[in-house]
Amino acid sequence: MDNDVIQLGLKPIEVWPKDQIIETCGNPTICSTHFLDVQEYHPRLIAKILELEEHQRLRKRSFRGACGTKIHHLDTWLNTEAELISLRARAFFRRVLECEDAVVDLSWANIYRNGDFCMPHSHVRSTASVVYCVETGDEDVEDSLSGQFGFVDPRLSSCCPDQEGCVTKPFYPGMKMGTMIIFPSQLVHTVNAYLGKRPRITLSWNINKNPLPGSPLITNAGE
Ligand SMILES: [Fe+2]
Repeated sequence: MDNDVIQLGLKPIEVWPKDQIIETCGNPTICSTHFLDVQEYHPRLIAKILELEEHQRLRKRSFRGACGTKIHHLDTWLNTEAELISLRARAFFRRVLECEDAVVDLSWANIYRNGDFCMPHSHVRSTASVVYCVETGDEDVEDSLSGQFGFVDPRLSSCCPDQEGCVTKPFYPGMKMGTMIIFPSQLVHTVNAYLGKRPRITLSWNINKNPLPGSPLITNAGE
């Protein structure tokens, strides 16, 4: 399935590009990959997300620290670019977990506007979660950590440089446009307050090897 090609207009795009590199970052259980062909699909993907953000019925927004505005269920967007990046997320899961199947329990977009942030949380009903950076937004020249995605989990040695089991330092894997990260869903993570005029946009998937009974739990938590 990883050899699949998806047609964007007249252009065929490989779901998993040849020579796509997967690297571990900070901890053996966290991996990242970076897609170089983002100009082929980001403009239309961003336009679709911003269009959906205007739909009061589709958007979900609770409070400042609830990870911005969310739009769930990428598979219902009727958007080929969203389909492509979802196929990539599933292919990433299969490669990292060395398995045949990757079933998405829940997927969503996060749109951060000025002042939005994401409180520390884990993801439920999920083996591994994938986060993809569509748009980093504006750089904050006064704070390089503005809007940064980071882990704050006592199970990660990179978060506990001073004493085992004591989180004294968030681990920021570093995300730029086109970066995709996969991590165990239980790992506690957060997003620092974003300050900027342009939106900061990410996509997320909770993925399992097999389908789970029941419905996905949509919580306030989660980039
Ligand atoms: Fe999250």
